[in-house]
Amino acid sequence: MSSRAHWSSRLGFILATAGSAIGLGNIWRFPYLVGQNGGCSFLIVYLCCVFGLGYFMLVGKLSFGRAAKTNIVDGFQTIASQAQKNISPTWGFLGGMLTLLNAIIISGVYVTVIGWTLFYTFESFQNLFFFTKNIHEQTTFNNLISSFEIQLFLGTLCILLTAFIISKGVKKGIERVALYLMPLLFILLVVMLIRILVLPNAEKGIAFFLSPNWAAIGFSSEGIDFKLFSKVLLTAVGQSFYSLSLGMGVMFTYGSYLANTNDLKKDARWIVSLDLMVSILAGLIVLPAVFAFNLEPTTGAGLTFMTLPYVFANMWGGELWAFLFYLLLFIAALTSLISIYEPLTALFIDKLKLTRNKATLLTAFLNICFFVLALLSLTKKIHFQLMGKNLFDAFDWITGSVSLSLTMIVCCLFMGWIGFIPIWRNFRRGSRASRVFRTYLKIVLQFIAPFLLTILILMAFI
Ligand code: ALA
Repeated sequence: MSSRAHWSSRLGFILATAGSAIGLGNIWRFPYLVGQNGGCSFLIVYLCCVFGLGYFMLVGKLSFGRAAKTNIVDGFQTIASQAQKNISPTWGFLGGMLTLLNAIIISGVYVTVIGWTLFYTFESFQNLFFFTKNIHEQTTFNNLISSFEIQLFLGTLCILLTAFIISKGVKKGIERVALYLMPLLFILLVVMLIRILVLPNAEKGIAFFLSPNWAAIGFSSEGIDFKLFSKVLLTAVGQSFYSLSLGMGVMFTYGSYLANTNDLKKDARWIVSLDLMVSILAGLIVLPAVFAFNLEPTTGAGLTFMTLPYVFANMWGGELWAFLFYLLLFIAALTSLISIYEPLTALFIDKLKLTRNKATLLTAFLNICFFVLALLSLTKKIHFQLMGKNLFDAFDWITGSVSLSLTMIVCCLFMGWIGFIPIWRNFRRGSRASRVFRTYLKIVLQFIAPFLLTILILMAFI
């Protein structure tokens, strides 16, 4: 038995991996993307992306990690040797380092937003029991994002908590936390859903979410608006990859802790379905709540932190529901942040021969550096800008629009053209799959995903 960490149960692996996938992307981002891109029609395009692309990429990344059984930087060389091919070290450097860079930058942004969810959880809790604060005041969010001290305090709390869990290791840290928190997350989601669906006028939001408006994605009686459709399609592709934590080294690393007997075809199906279910439930909570109060679903990123507090404030028992909702968001985000830490920590353990505790400290230190930089710029303590944006927005834009896609292009080209045979062989060790499945997986990795991701990057610049 190798000394590499491994999962203790299939359930633990599925819940931890679903915990990585389910995060701010599902509960914060997905409902506002649905709101901005025409409701149900976006959902249909998104479903096609998840099952037609995301699922196959997930299978590829988990098998890649399981076949390599090492860190993401060495993984490229290991698989190339298994495929009996000589590759330039640039692959490992580009694929591995870009992945880790994504993890570091994303964690800086992620911690800031988790800090906001923690703030709203505390505030709702206070309001619930002590009736002290009004989280629905329009100024609340603006005051929060302009306070360096409050955000630093909350972000540091999240970093300490995440580092503590990661330092406990794969089984006793990541897996155990997932076994407790994921069921709690599902219970909270169902309770919230029931509460929101009984609101008067909630059916308007349900109709928006479940009845297609083809014109909103470019299909009308006058013809097809290709520009609009490609924008919606690429938004859905980007969201599906982000939501499945692809391009951050997470799925590779979690796969590297797996036994060869796991049926990855089925496990990936579970992970994708749980992730999708949470996105849909989040949509069914947020959109009907917004429609019930005649508010606009198109407000974008502010939907969760500016529009929803108003909804809760005007709802019977609103403080309790606000508390439960932000707690739910916090739990989802925490399990994702934990997963974003793991590829870096695993790399430091392997390459720098550090103990897990020291490797975790180094990861947390890097996270703090990017978090503080983002915060200093967001709160205008420094006036340094990147591409005309403050560093928080710039980090979000770089990862969301460019570097995650670039990393996935490198990984897909590698998996499709160089490492396909050992990756496929590894996948087959626990799963049965037809020739059609194999051919489609190869086409996705070699052509479809790199093509769509390239356009996604180009669109970001145009
Ligand atoms: N997959 C994580 C999310 O959706 C990163 O937030």
